[in-house]
Amino acid sequence: MIVSLIAAVDEHGGIGRNGRMPWRLSDDLKHFRALTLGHHVLMGRKTYATVAGRLPGRKLLVLSHNPAFRADDALVFASFEAALAEAQAAGEDELFVIGGAEVFARALPLAQRFYLTRVNTVADCDVFFPAFDMGQWKLLSQQDFAAGGKNDHDFTIFELARKG
Ligand SMILES: NC(=O)c1ccc[n+]([C@@H]2O[C@H](COP(=O)([O-])OP(=O)(O)OC[C@H]3O[C@@H](n4cnc5c(N)ncnc54)[C@H](OP(=O)(O)O)[C@@H]3O)[C@@H](O)[C@H]2O)c1
Repeated sequence: MIVSLIAAVDEHGGIGRNGRMPWRLSDDLKHFRALTLGHHVLMGRKTYATVAGRLPGRKLLVLSHNPAFRADDALVFASFEAALAEAQAAGEDELFVIGGAEVFARALPLAQRFYLTRVNTVADCDVFFPAFDMGQWKLLSQQDFAAGGKNDHDFTIFELARKG
């Protein structure tokens, strides 16, 4: 099983504001759906609050330190390792880590693939993607999208693979 990151990041590394995604990018959501459908997706409890009930066709794994936390459409784990073990035991080939900040930071050293959407804006975010070294990643593909319609901003989707 490989671990993949999938994130949309603004020009300052921002990923969220007031508990939400601070933009609407319809084509990026379509890309997210196409990639993750049929797979396990791992997220923190706050990200789950924003997607609960909206990611059918995927196995949702949620991290929380709160032993009383329950989720209707997700399995809850107290540690990153326990969630990984669940996906592995289920025969997953690619686990998608979908945020937020702390979960991205925990997964980054293990990740083999990184689906990075660079959003051409500064969205005054209060949550940021962790610092990472672009030199450790090889570009596999790049696709540009223009603002307009249901895309609030120009953005580029990069598919990256860890070097070496
Ligand atoms: N742009 C993007 O690609 C993207 C992606 C995802 C999210 N977001 C945005 O980011 C924001 C949410 O992210 P966030 O960083 O604030 O929160 P988060 O990572 O979604 O959730 C944090 C919570 O997850 C639990 N958690 C995290 N790591 C854990 C671990 N190792 N073991 C056990 N529990 C763990 C804890 O829950 P407990 O407090 O219950 O213990 C922690 O408080 C929102 O604004 C969202 O819209 C953006």
